[in-house]
Amino acid sequence: VTVGSRGKLMHLMSLTLFSPGQHSVTGWRHPLSTPKGLEWNRPQVWQRLAQELERGRFDALFFADQPLPGNVYQGSYDSALKNGVMFPAHDPLVLAPIIASVTSKLGIAVSMSTAYYHPFMLVRKLSTLDNLSDGRVAWNVVTSYQENGAEAFGADFLSHDERYRRADEYFDVCEKLWNSWEPDALVEDPSLPLMVDPSKVHPIEHDGEFIKCSGFPVTVPSPQHHPVIFQAGSSPAGRDFCAKRAEVAFAVMITAEQMAAFSADMAERTENAGRKSSDLGCAFGVQPIVAPTEAEARERQHEIRELVTLDGAMSAISGHTGFDFGSLDPTASIKDVPELPGVRGVFNSIVDFAEGRGEEMTVADAVKAYSDSVLLPQIVGSPEQVAEEMITLWEEGGGIGFLVSPPYYPGGYTDFVDLVVPILQEKGVYRKSYVGNTLREHLAQTSVG
Ligand SMILES: Cc1cc2nc3c(=O)[nH]c(=O)nc-3n(C[C@H](O)[C@H](O)[C@H](O)COP(=O)(O)O)c2cc1C
Repeated sequence: VTVGSRGKLMHLMSLTLFSPGQHSVTGWRHPLSTPKGLEWNRPQVWQRLAQELERGRFDALFFADQPLPGNVYQGSYDSALKNGVMFPAHDPLVLAPIIASVTSKLGIAVSMSTAYYHPFMLVRKLSTLDNLSDGRVAWNVVTSYQENGAEAFGADFLSHDERYRRADEYFDVCEKLWNSWEPDALVEDPSLPLMVDPSKVHPIEHDGEFIKCSGFPVTVPSPQHHPVIFQAGSSPAGRDFCAKRAEVAFAVMITAEQMAAFSADMAERTENAGRKSSDLGCAFGVQPIVAPTEAEARERQHEIRELVTLDGAMSAISGHTGFDFGSLDPTASIKDVPELPGVRGVFNSIVDFAEGRGEEMTVADAVKAYSDSVLLPQIVGSPEQVAEEMITLWEEGGGIGFLVSPPYYPGGYTDFVDLVVPILQEKGVYRKSYVGNTLREHLAQTSVG
């Protein structure tokens, strides 16, 4: 199945965490993020949020997730815990069916790690969920870049490229499991009786470099056959894995030029992997802050910025990059930051951005840029301005659309859906209704509906 609508329709997904803290560091302190009766650890706020996204015709609600918060800054968890930097964090997979039960079209995307779930278990869980949701599930394939995750699971922390080699084998095992039932194996005929035709279920035997698995799924084939595959590699190994396996590539890029370069690189890698470049679409993270007027939107951005603590920003940037930014001289140039073990791509885009502008950027500037929205470009303005800027980024950046992070929630999505979505629809770049039912169908939709 191809992501057929590149250049025809803009696609939108949320960029959400099952946590009080979203991707705006310490944004949970904003009064709009804690409306009474909508506590983050209860279902209602997520059901409301999902219904708002569905009203806004989003393709999917996407949950990022990781096993533990960052402990790289000052070698401690203290700042992540105190500042609620993506913490506490509950399990999105458990929340997914609760969301599915109050929506009928919206896709639901969960991040699950190839490092800590055995593929046999992952296939069972996602097939169950794809059945329960009538084919609305996506899997964001993550290899887990934080060493503390490995420690929590008592697993070996593999080197960066080895993690991707393992993920590649892991994906092969998943494919074998997804294909082990023939489509008409399920008969359910009480008169014979015949529940499942044993000649049409083919157990797999996998004994590879990293993974062993013998057996077959005990779940019936799901409406989408297998979940839609998302991936967010940014290193060469990560991008190659994404180009070989994914349907949508996620990335965080600051400018339209960086987005365009990423899209072109991924198209080339996808073809090198023996697929059509249109088999993979790119979606870029953004954080819109919209209000009826530009002045009000700027005021809101300012309010949110005032809530960010330096400690929280340091925790976020150090956790993502795997490098303790507290150990650096704040006035040093970011060019002097050493090779980073974690999410290099994100940091590299700051370096490129500064170089592109011919600016000297210091460590303190980078932390500041990170503190607003972990580098997601903020699109701030009136509804018309935000819509225009998104359309420009979409046209020039070569992606299929965006991952929309809320500056506060759930109201950030309500504002976006009320104010920006109607303009995108009016301009004919965004769906008015869903024409299909499954998430894969939404991503392939080419008419406004
Ligand atoms: C939009 C976006 C969402 C991501 N979500 C997660 C996530 O939920 N869990 C996780 O462990 N990593 C997540 N990552 C990190 C990526 O999986 C990946 O590790 C990172 O981009 C670094 O790329 P590399 O692995 O090729 O070095 C995300 C990255 C991006 C850009």
